[in-house]
Amino acid sequence: MSHDNGISNRSNNRPFEDVLRVRLSRRNLLTRSALLGASGFLAALAGDKLLAQGAAAATGASTETGLAGGEPVLAQARKLVDFPIVPVSAGSGPVPAISSAYEYDILIPWGTPLQGQGPSYEGQPNRRPSAAEQAQQIGIGHDGMWYFPLEAGNDHGMLAINHEYGTNPHILGKELPSSLDDVRVSQHAHGVSVVEIQRVRGAKWQVVPSARSRRIHANTPVTFSGPAANSPLLRTQAGNPALGTLNNCANGKTPWGTYLTCEENFNGYFGDSTYNPQTKTGTWKATNAQKRYGFAAAGFGYGWELFDKRFDLASADHANEENRFGWVVEIDPMNPNQTPVKRTALGRIKHEGAEVVEGRGGRIVVYMGDDERFDYIYKFVSADNWRSMQARGISPLDEGKLYVAKFNDDGSGNWLELDISNPALRDKFNNQAEVLTYARLAADALGATPMDRPEWITTAANGRVYCTLTNNTQRKETQANPANPLGPNPDGHIISWRDSDGYTGMTFSWDIFILSKDTHGAGDQRTFSSPDGLWADPDGRLFIQTDGTQKKGLNDQMLVANLETGEIRRLLTGVTGSEVTGVTVTPDRRTMFVNLQHPGDGNPAKTNFPAPQGSGRVPRDCTLVIRKKDGGIIGS
Ligand code: FEO
Ligand code: CA
Ligand code: CA
Repeated sequence: MSHDNGISNRSNNRPFEDVLRVRLSRRNLLTRSALLGASGFLAALAGDKLLAQGAAAATGASTETGLAGGEPVLAQARKLVDFPIVPVSAGSGPVPAISSAYEYDILIPWGTPLQGQGPSYEGQPNRRPSAAEQAQQIGIGHDGMWYFPLEAGNDHGMLAINHEYGTNPHILGKELPSSLDDVRVSQHAHGVSVVEIQRVRGAKWQVVPSARSRRIHANTPVTFSGPAANSPLLRTQAGNPALGTLNNCANGKTPWGTYLTCEENFNGYFGDSTYNPQTKTGTWKATNAQKRYGFAAAGFGYGWELFDKRFDLASADHANEENRFGWVVEIDPMNPNQTPVKRTALGRIKHEGAEVVEGRGGRIVVYMGDDERFDYIYKFVSADNWRSMQARGISPLDEGKLYVAKFNDDGSGNWLELDISNPALRDKFNNQAEVLTYARLAADALGATPMDRPEWITTAANGRVYCTLTNNTQRKETQANPANPLGPNPDGHIISWRDSDGYTGMTFSWDIFILSKDTHGAGDQRTFSSPDGLWADPDGRLFIQTDGTQKKGLNDQMLVANLETGEIRRLLTGVTGSEVTGVTVTPDRRTMFVNLQHPGDGNPAKTNFPAPQGSGRVPRDCTLVIRKKDGGIIGS
């Protein structure tokens, strides 16, 4: 999703007016050289071609790219990423294009019955699902997801999948809801599906009836835990119970088998019911905190506030309802009776995703991006070993420290603690619940580094952490700095760091992995812009998904990078008007699930996918099931 028009960070953190774009290319080369040296492989790149494979070629290539001489030269560079690319010429149509070594199937389009049977919506342009039907169907806006294997792990599992958003014209077939029932349809299309899927040997994956499957949407009961759980900031005068999760973007999964869904652009669902667009007046006046989170009288135009007071910013009885969104929510994919838990210790931001890794001493570390121009990267570290916390009946996601990242110009970095005991916060906030509920304001006060829209974060087998910074057209040249070196930055970049102390330390060293613009050269088959979805596999491949205008007429796409060599290949392009997002695999990594979000921007004139072209059907968000024709590891 690209709701990126506003800038709500008005803090003056690090404008870097006088910082030059120094060291960038040199540091990249040094890092690559060190990596190559450590791994014993020597290779160099030109376009998407791996040039150096033999000793002679490697020696020549190393001179060409300026890599340090004297490296041990092995006979063969590792061919981690070796499939035929989708050429630029094939990647712009109304149906997906995939590497000739691969094939795909379609799974769970919007409107698929959750139990595999019952009322379905199949893109008929003259009707849409009813509210009751939608509550029992796969939602819209497929985004982050995770596959949780059942017994026959590679052929049978629970897929937990986010339904980030859908526009009113796409979901309802009209610009605005005309009744509470319309609002309910839209609300039920949002949230999360937990759905049991199975592949009968040799056949396609399909939804199977299951007592475990469930829909979680904007009206599902939820609960809060952690330091802000009992705060008055999360209570309303009306006393209405906490319900629902919204704008579920990317995700995470914990070592104890739960799913994390992340609430991103929640602000857009709230509006002022008294607002008159003609006179631009209404009774609601934004607080500073509401401004910092981007609340606006017209919201994103959903119009929920017209029929559902919960989303009406002008309703004094419902003040604070908006504080109940913007959290990371934990869902047990195996227990349909579990109430989703909003983990307040992880802070309230526009959460893109939650990458969980086990750090030193068994502590849980969660990396989180706040996707807005000039917003920040956060991490949470649990108070103790997660197993011992659980043994004491404490969630590792309830007790710990929350930090925000400061990227120094010299390639070092600091994690700044968002704790009420921090002298920089003590005078500005009343308690830890307030620090967490208004984490953006607390991070402003600490001097965190404003980034170019942090999206997905992944940890890789090489011990590094990677984060997509999708783009920032509003960064001025004078605001460029080594970590965000382009002003403006219309195509984005990927930043990488290594944390101290097994992910748990308060310092790190960082580098730029790639600037998207460096893939745009003439004849460059790697070209991509606006990186968003990101996942590193255990072998050293990095899957990069895009969301935004691509060069050379390409649709949004998924590429695979070799982290060792920097080689990048295009595996898949989506359909016209769609974003490619969400990535998860079966344990054997021979099946991958990837989503197409908002195909054709919901417009059947652009594409009818996944219905046949020319059918006139409304395009529907769906999951692609990807297999390699030779049964190999996905990405190879
Ligand atoms: Fe939901 Fe930042 O993408
Ligand atoms: Ca995006
Ligand atoms: Ca995204």
